[in-house]
Amino acid sequence: MFANLVEFPAWLLGIGLVMLVLPGASAAWVDGRALKKDASVLILGGGVAGVIAARTLHEQGITNFTIVEAKSELGGRLASTTFGANGKEFTAELGANWVQGTQTGDGPANPIWSLAQKYGLKTHQNDWLGSIVTYNATGPDDYLDVLNESVDAYTNLTIAAGARVDKGLVDGTARTGYSLLGAKSRTPQVMASEYYLFDTLFGQTPEESSWIASSWAYNFTYNTDVGGFADDNQMSIDPRGFKHIIQAEAAEFLQPHQLRTNSTVKTIKHSDSGVSVVLVSGEVLHADYVLCTFSLGVLQNDDVVFEPALPDWKEEAIQSMTMATYTKIFLQFEEKFWFNTEVGLYADPERGRYPLWQSLDHENFLPGSGIVFVTTTGDYSLRVESLSDEQVQEEVLGVLAAMFPNTTIPAPVAFYFPRWNADPLFRGSFPNWPSSFFSEHHENLRANVGERLWFAGDATSQKYFGYLHGAYFEGVDVATDMAKCIKAGGCVGMKHVQKVTNARPCQV
Ligand SMILES: Cc1cc2nc3c(=O)[nH]c(=O)nc-3n(C[C@H](O)[C@H](O)[C@H](O)COP(=O)(O)OP(=O)(O)OC[C@H]3O[C@@H](n4cnc5c(N)ncnc54)[C@H](O)[C@@H]3O)c2cc1C
Ligand SMILES: *[C@@H]1O[C@H](CO)[C@@H](O)[C@H](O)[C@H]1NC(C)=O
Ligand SMILES: *[C@@H]1O[C@H](CO)[C@@H](O)[C@H](O)[C@H]1NC(C)=O
Ligand SMILES: *[C@@H]1O[C@H](CO)[C@@H](O)[C@H](O)[C@H]1NC(C)=O
Ligand SMILES: *[C@@H]1O[C@H](CO)[C@@H](O)[C@H](O)[C@H]1NC(C)=O
Ligand SMILES: *[C@@H]1O[C@H](CO)[C@@H](O)[C@H](O)[C@H]1NC(C)=O
Ligand SMILES: *[C@@H]1O[C@H](CO)[C@@H](O)[C@H](O)[C@H]1NC(C)=O
Ligand SMILES: *[C@@H]1O[C@H](CO)[C@@H](O)[C@H](O)[C@H]1NC(C)=O
Repeated sequence: MFANLVEFPAWLLGIGLVMLVLPGASAAWVDGRALKKDASVLILGGGVAGVIAARTLHEQGITNFTIVEAKSELGGRLASTTFGANGKEFTAELGANWVQGTQTGDGPANPIWSLAQKYGLKTHQNDWLGSIVTYNATGPDDYLDVLNESVDAYTNLTIAAGARVDKGLVDGTARTGYSLLGAKSRTPQVMASEYYLFDTLFGQTPEESSWIASSWAYNFTYNTDVGGFADDNQMSIDPRGFKHIIQAEAAEFLQPHQLRTNSTVKTIKHSDSGVSVVLVSGEVLHADYVLCTFSLGVLQNDDVVFEPALPDWKEEAIQSMTMATYTKIFLQFEEKFWFNTEVGLYADPERGRYPLWQSLDHENFLPGSGIVFVTTTGDYSLRVESLSDEQVQEEVLGVLAAMFPNTTIPAPVAFYFPRWNADPLFRGSFPNWPSSFFSEHHENLRANVGERLWFAGDATSQKYFGYLHGAYFEGVDVATDMAKCIKAGGCVGMKHVQKVTNARPCQV
């Protein structure tokens, strides 16, 4: 019922505009209308990119689309679950948890923040740098001065990256940047601090990350000097789950027949005349266009087969970016025995070994929940995923014992972590941009293949890859381009390069 209300004015507006601009040209109007109605679109994947692309087509008057989603609900990597012992259950965010960069004054708003406000999502600011205590392998160890140095080193890294762009210099790894800027010490405290500022944002190490692209992603999200939203992280603590905002947004326009849940795609057949999508069930869906929003990890791992195979330029782009893994390991205890700050940073002699501890049992979040979670990323996450739950639990309890040498660490009453990398619907957590991923690769990752096969998602965003708002903006932008193509009765679409030759300097 709501959907009709939204659709009606758009339809009226369409007539009004055409009558105003082209009085008497009813044939053109009929043609335009006929084209719109005949084009059918399959939107593969019901995450942020898929839902926002659907909303964009709807706003453009294209309503003959279907979202095809393997899961039983919308949201994708906005994924929450009920966690906790009997009678002490809470909503835990297994995927995205923060609106990263909100809005400063009346400056540009992160659209995820706008949705959060529209639907009254319960959030609280998470003070990552101001509410923190630090530990090493023998217990409490105050190295906040080292952490502060790391903050400066990171800022310097992003500034130097910008200077490279201005001078037309090539990219390098963020490690190269750190080293050139003099940040070379490798004590556990320095490693933990650097890890906290870098790896937890990009899901991988500075060695594995582009110096320039990581600086862009940071700047465009957080740095208001260069168009970023705000230096603010709002943590969702809504019992409905963070996914509520995208499900509620979908409910405003999506008709039941426009959504197929529980439908896993196996094969995408594409040609100049149309597309067919074969489901695992054997059912075949036919359409004029397809918009694939599956994660980069899914595209990399052949979980979905393209017929004919994707062209070389596309495949090279897909295999040149990285799907990073970010793992949150949740523990619930009878009683809180840990720090009263929001964050505890642990410096192990091994870089990346259970470094980041975040408390939900805090007055700002879920007081009384008895929940704390520890995060791993990158290769360490792959290692963690390969172990049994029991082994991981034993390891993290060992780390807690090291952090709190005078406390007898009790057995947790609940323990859970998602295996994002092993999940065939995701194959990782979010994309990261390596230094060997060139601007042309990015164009090619984003570009449509022929007229019929289009791509969008958090990996196709140049400014905000790996973020919810990146998926959102790509949903808007790619669906807008598709709508133009559909209304024109065909198009060339986005540009791509046939062969990526020597690197040209980076540009935004
Ligand atoms: C652990 C973790 C933490 C994160 N933290 C944050 C954060 O705090 N802030 C932030 O901004 N971002 C965060 N992100 C990133 C953010 O979640 C993603 O950028 C965003 O959700 C991606 O949306 P998408 O629509 O591009 O892809 P997805 O959400 O992956 O949507 C794609 C959809 O396709 C479906 N699908 C896949 N394969 C098939 C198939 N074969 N057939 C049918 N359907 C299929 C999937 O089920 C999924 O619903 C995090 C991600 C993870 C995993
Ligand atoms: C929607 O697309 C399908 C598949 O091409 C087609 O059979 C159907 O007629 C279209 N519906 C409308 C209302 O245009
Ligand atoms: C989808 O699958 C879920 C879980 O298996 C089930 O509960 C639900 O009823 C299914 N939904 C549809 C529309 O078939
Ligand atoms: C750990 O911290 C304690 C207290 O600051 C310190 O005495 C000890 O040397 C530190 N250990 C290491 C390995 O840095
Ligand atoms: C770290 O920086 C913060 C903010 O700049 C400052 O308030 C704090 O005193 C610094 N702490 C140390 C130990 O240097
Ligand atoms: C950051 O750069 C400033 C200015 O060049 C310099 O004074 C400072 O030492 C640098 N800090 C770190 C931690 O590299
Ligand atoms: C990031 O922002 C800083 C300003 O705070 C700017 O100097 C730098 O050039 C920017 N970096 C990039 C890569 O754009
Ligand atoms: C642990 O107990 C010992 C002995 O009482 C004490 O010296 C030490 O400071 C305590 N450590 C912590 C982290 O409380």
